[in-house]
Amino acid sequence: MNPRLQQLQPYPFQKLRELFAGVTAEPGLTAINLSIGEPKHPTPAFIKEALSDALGGLAHYPITQGSDALRESIADWCRMRYGVELDPATEVLPVNGSREALFAFAQAVVDQTRHVKRILSPNPFYQIYEGAAILAGAKPYFLNTTPENGYRMDFSQVPDDMWETVQLVYVCSPGNPTGKVMSLDDWREVFALADAHDFIIAADECYSEIYFPHPKPLMKPLPFGIPEGAHPKGHKGAKAEPKAIDEDAPPLGALTAAKQLGRDFSRLVVFNSLSKRSNVPGLRSGFVAGDAEAIKQFLLYRTYHGSAMNPAIQAASAAAWADEAHVVENRRQYREKFAAVMPMLKDVLEFDAPDAAFYLWARVPGGGDTAFARELFRKKHVTVLPGSFLAREAGGGNPGQGFVRIALVDGLEQCQEAARRIVDFVKEA
Ligand SMILES: Cc1ncc(COP(=O)(O)O)c(C=O)c1O
Repeated sequence: MNPRLQQLQPYPFQKLRELFAGVTAEPGLTAINLSIGEPKHPTPAFIKEALSDALGGLAHYPITQGSDALRESIADWCRMRYGVELDPATEVLPVNGSREALFAFAQAVVDQTRHVKRILSPNPFYQIYEGAAILAGAKPYFLNTTPENGYRMDFSQVPDDMWETVQLVYVCSPGNPTGKVMSLDDWREVFALADAHDFIIAADECYSEIYFPHPKPLMKPLPFGIPEGAHPKGHKGAKAEPKAIDEDAPPLGALTAAKQLGRDFSRLVVFNSLSKRSNVPGLRSGFVAGDAEAIKQFLLYRTYHGSAMNPAIQAASAAAWADEAHVVENRRQYREKFAAVMPMLKDVLEFDAPDAAFYLWARVPGGGDTAFARELFRKKHVTVLPGSFLAREAGGGNPGQGFVRIALVDGLEQCQEAARRIVDFVKEA
């Protein structure tokens, strides 16, 4: 067997099971699990209908490139959301969820003929980046994203002589777990580095549609809300009352950043997904978009890997990308939960309101994230994820140490009840 398999770390949830082994949760309290980043809002009925209406497609082998209809619906969505024109034939590819694509992309990108191969990753991070690097024969190099550095990847930490070995850089914006969105200046820096050192950027944007109305200078200020013409289909009100500045401005995406900086999409591949946006984590549907040459090679890889998307899922996905009304409602529910829970927790935990995504990345009193998670489970039957499970030792420490990730994926009442229990837990300690 491939010895690199032995280098893979156990997944954070396995570490959590080990942490809780032999611990009995307070039996008088119902379990509330805020550890897993799985959306729990119901799947919209029209997506299920589109899926069942297309079951006839099961009689044919799908092509790896996906149907024209699906690629066109993704390109239409990117035009609406990112203000960019993509060629659906060459710059868009459907994938079976962004997870498999983030993994497979490294296998396609990494040049095996080079002796030393590096992949940069934020830290804390989505664990697939590390596994993808290891199995591609590359060494992951972690850049800590902390409150002290504004949760930004500090590229000045990369030693000068390492750059020539870097082949791929994962960036995650909005960040899991930090909720941080990269700014145009961040993009300017990473594009310049990619040009200077000839690497590819894999931009993981799977949380791009879960964002909050805090005024943040992420995009050029929009004095009257979203400009006419940029409105999602099914979302009326382009001429509505002027809103607070950029209240509804979505997070800056990599494709938009490239356009604003006057670039084409070379060296950039964006990964997005329906899982969070449309509450279909079980559908396994996402896309990659950007650099046509990288996508051509990735398609070649995928043809051999055998990762064509099921035709019924392609039809359901095309329907999902074409509708925004359900996404607006989905976002409303997350906003309601964060608005309810953050004021409750602010006196007992330390956190920044996230720009986007559905996590609170909170520093716990006392600094022991694993003990906090274990005792919270024991005494209050609430599960959160210790931050150290999401990060690696780098730059002199584990940047997840002392944090917990709280995923507000359950219903409003459960999230409020969990927050009440966390407040009691901290006050009783
Ligand atoms: C940062 C990040 N990227 C990618 C994914 C993968 O999502 P999916 O495969 O459902 O598109 C997740 C899932 O939790 C995630 O947190």
